Amino acid sequence: MSRQKVLLLGATGETGGSILNGLLADKSLNVSVLIREASLEKPATKAIASRNVPIIVGDSTADVATLTSLVKGFDVVISAIDAASQLAQANLVDAAAAAGVKRFVPCGFMTIVPPGGIMLLRDQKEEINNRIFRNHLPYTIIDVGFWHILSVLALPSGKSDYVMLAPNANLFGDGNAPNLLTHLPDIGKFVAEIVKDPRTLNKRVVTWSDELSQNQIFDMMEDVSGEKIERQHVSEEEFKPQLAAARKAFEEDTSSEGMRLTSIMLHGSEYANSKFFRRDNTLENAKYLGYLDARELYPGFKPTTFREFLVNELLPGRAERPYPNLKIH
Ligand SMILES: NC(=O)c1ccc[n+]([C@@H]2O[C@H](COP(=O)([O-])OP(=O)(O)OC[C@H]3O[C@@H](n4cnc5c(N)ncnc54)[C@H](OP(=O)(O)O)[C@@H]3O)[C@@H](O)[C@H]2O)c1
Repeated sequence: MSRQKVLLLGATGETGGSILNGLLADKSLNVSVLIREASLEKPATKAIASRNVPIIVGDSTADVATLTSLVKGFDVVISAIDAASQLAQANLVDAAAAAGVKRFVPCGFMTIVPPGGIMLLRDQKEEINNRIFRNHLPYTIIDVGFWHILSVLALPSGKSDYVMLAPNANLFGDGNAPNLLTHLPDIGKFVAEIVKDPRTLNKRVVTWSDELSQNQIFDMMEDVSGEKIERQHVSEEEFKPQLAAARKAFEEDTSSEGMRLTSIMLHGSEYANSKFFRRDNTLENAKYLGYLDARELYPGFKPTTFREFLVNELLPGRAERPYPNLKIH
C-alpha cells in the first residue's frame, strides 16, 4: 500500500514542531510541510530542510484556487496555526474540500471547553470547524488538554523559572479542579496514530497523560523538588475583575500585531476561568462532549506523565522553554 501523504502547516511552531517529529517517526507516512515564503530563511525552516522534508511554499491566507492546487494529492492536511490566526484557516478548509483531501485536521490542540462565549479561542476554532462541516470535508478534531510545561509553578529556589513565561505560584479557587494534561512532545506521537486510524475519521479525539488538580501539581512539585511552595491563593471574587479587564483590554486593542500582549492576557485569563473555575478541561466533560479517548484507542502508547516530566526534564534543567523569542513584560 502506498504511504499516506500528509501536509503539515505550522511545522516551525511549537505544536507543529511536535507533530512533525511524530509524523516523521512513522515510516508509513509521507510528510511535507507548508511554509510561508517569508519564513523560508528562518533557522527552524532550515532545520526542517536539513531533515529532507519536502517544503511547499504557501500561506493559508492565499486564495482558494492557489491553495487547492497546493493541497491537491494530499490525503491528510494538518493545521497547527498559532492561536491568534485561527480564522486564517478558512481558505485552507475550502481548498481542502475542493481538492478532495481525505482528512482535514484543523488547529484544535487546546483544552476541553464548550463553545459559546467561554473562550474566544474555542469560538474561533469552532467557526473553522463549522466551515468544515458546511463543506462536508472529512475531519478529525484533536484536543490535548494543557501542556505539562505550561502547568509548572515557580519553585522558591527559582529552579523552574527557566521554562516559565511569567513565573508564579498562583492557586485558583479551591485548587481541586481536575485538568487533563499532555506533554508537548507527545502531541505529535498521538497525532501520528490518530491520522492513520479509520476509527477517528469525522470524530473529536482527546489526548492526555494525567488528570491533575492544581493542589496535586503543587504537592508533586514539592515532593520531587524537596521545596515548599507558598501558594498564592486567587479567589473567584478576585479573579472575575481580572478576567473582565483582560477581555476589555483585548477589545480595545486595535493593533494588528499577531501575538499581542492583550491576546496573550485574554487567552491566559480565559484558560484559567475555564480550567479552574468552570472545570471544563476534564475527561468526563470530554466524553460528554463526544470526544474519543486516545488512551483507550492506543493503550500501547504510554505518554510521559507530569511526574516523569518534572523528574527527567524540568529539575535536571533539560526542559526547553516554549516560544524562545516571546518576551512578556
Ligand atoms: N494546549 C495547550 O496548552 C496549548 C498551548 C499553546 C498553544 N496551544 C494551541 O496550539 C495551537 C498552535 O499554537 P502554537 O503556539 O504551537 O503555534 P506557534 O508556535 O505560534 O506556531 C504557529 C505556526 O503557524 C505558522 N503560520 C502562522 N500563520 C500562517 C499562515 N498564514 N500560513 C502558514 N503558516 C502559518 C507559523 O509559521 P511561521 O514560521 O511562518 O511563523 C508557525 O509555524 C494553537 O491553536 C493554540 O491554541 C495549545
